[in-house]
Amino acid sequence: MIVIEKVHTGIKGFDDIIEGGLPRPGITYIIGHPGAGKTTLALQILYNRALQGEKGMYVSLTEKKESVITRYKDFPVFNRLEEFLQKKQLMFFEAIPTYGLGKDMVISLIDDAFNIAQENDVKNIIFDTVTSLTMYLRRDEVRTILSYINDKIYSSKIMGIMIAELPLYSEIINPPNEEFMCDVLIVMDYVWIYAGAPKLDVRLIPVKSRVGRVDRRSYIAVISPETGVEIIGTIETEHFTPFRQG
Ligand SMILES: Nc1ncnc2c1ncn2[C@@H]1O[C@H](COP(=O)(O)OP(=O)(O)OP(=O)(O)O)[C@@H](O)[C@H]1O
Ligand SMILES: [Mg+2]
Repeated sequence: MIVIEKVHTGIKGFDDIIEGGLPRPGITYIIGHPGAGKTTLALQILYNRALQGEKGMYVSLTEKKESVITRYKDFPVFNRLEEFLQKKQLMFFEAIPTYGLGKDMVISLIDDAFNIAQENDVKNIIFDTVTSLTMYLRRDEVRTILSYINDKIYSSKIMGIMIAELPLYSEIINPPNEEFMCDVLIVMDYVWIYAGAPKLDVRLIPVKSRVGRVDRRSYIAVISPETGVEIIGTIETEHFTPFRQG
C-alpha cells in the first residue's frame, strides 16, 4: 500500500481549498493562461518546502534560468532564493526544447532530470511547462511521455507539480491528456470582473482531486513581490471567461 502524504504548500488561502496540501507521491497539474501566475505559484511551493528543509528541483522548459532568477531575486517572498540555489537546496534543470525534439530525446531529458533528482534526494519537482516538452510529439507519444514522467514521480516518491499551457484564444495546445493523468488539477484562467473599469482577474479553481474533496468554487488569486501568490477570496458574482470563443 502506498502512503500518500499531504504536503503543506504554505500559500495563503491555498492549503484550505485543497484539503490541507498536495499529495506526495503525487502529481498536481496547474493548467493556466499566460501570465496567470503558474510559475510563481509552483516555485513558491518549492521554495516554501525548501524553507522546511526539503530539496526541490525546477525543470525549466520555457525560460532560461537567468531569466527566472532575475525576475524573482528581488521578490521579498523569495529572499533566500539565491542562497538555496547555491546550497543546492533548490536546483535548476534548464532544458528548452527546440524544433525537432523527438520522443527519445524527451525521454533522455526526463531521465537526466530524475537521475539528478534521485542523487540529490529531491522531494519536490516542477516541470514548467509540460506543454513545451511534448508539443512536437504525436498525440500517442504525448500520452506515453506523461505516463513515463508519472511513473518516475511515483517510484521516486516525489511531489510533482506539472504546469500546462492554456492559450488565450483556443482551448489547448496538446490533446488534453494532462487532466486525466494527475491526482490534483488546478486551473488558473482569466475572468472579467466588472467593478468600475472592467478588468481581468485571475480565477483559480481546484477542479479535481483523487486524494480529497474539492469544492470547485472560483477563487481570486493575486501576485505581489511581498507575498507571492495569495488566494484572497471567492468570486461570488456572475462573470464570463474571455478568449474562449476560439
Ligand atoms: N515585479 C512584479 N510585481 C508585481 N507583480 C508581478 C511582478 N512580476 C510579475 N508579476 C505578476 O506575475 C505575473 C506573471 O506570473 P508568472 O510568471 O508566474 O505567470 P505564468 O502563468 O507562469 O506566465 P507564463 O505563461 O508567461 O509562463 C504577471 O502577469 C504579473 O501579474
Ligand atoms: Mg510561467
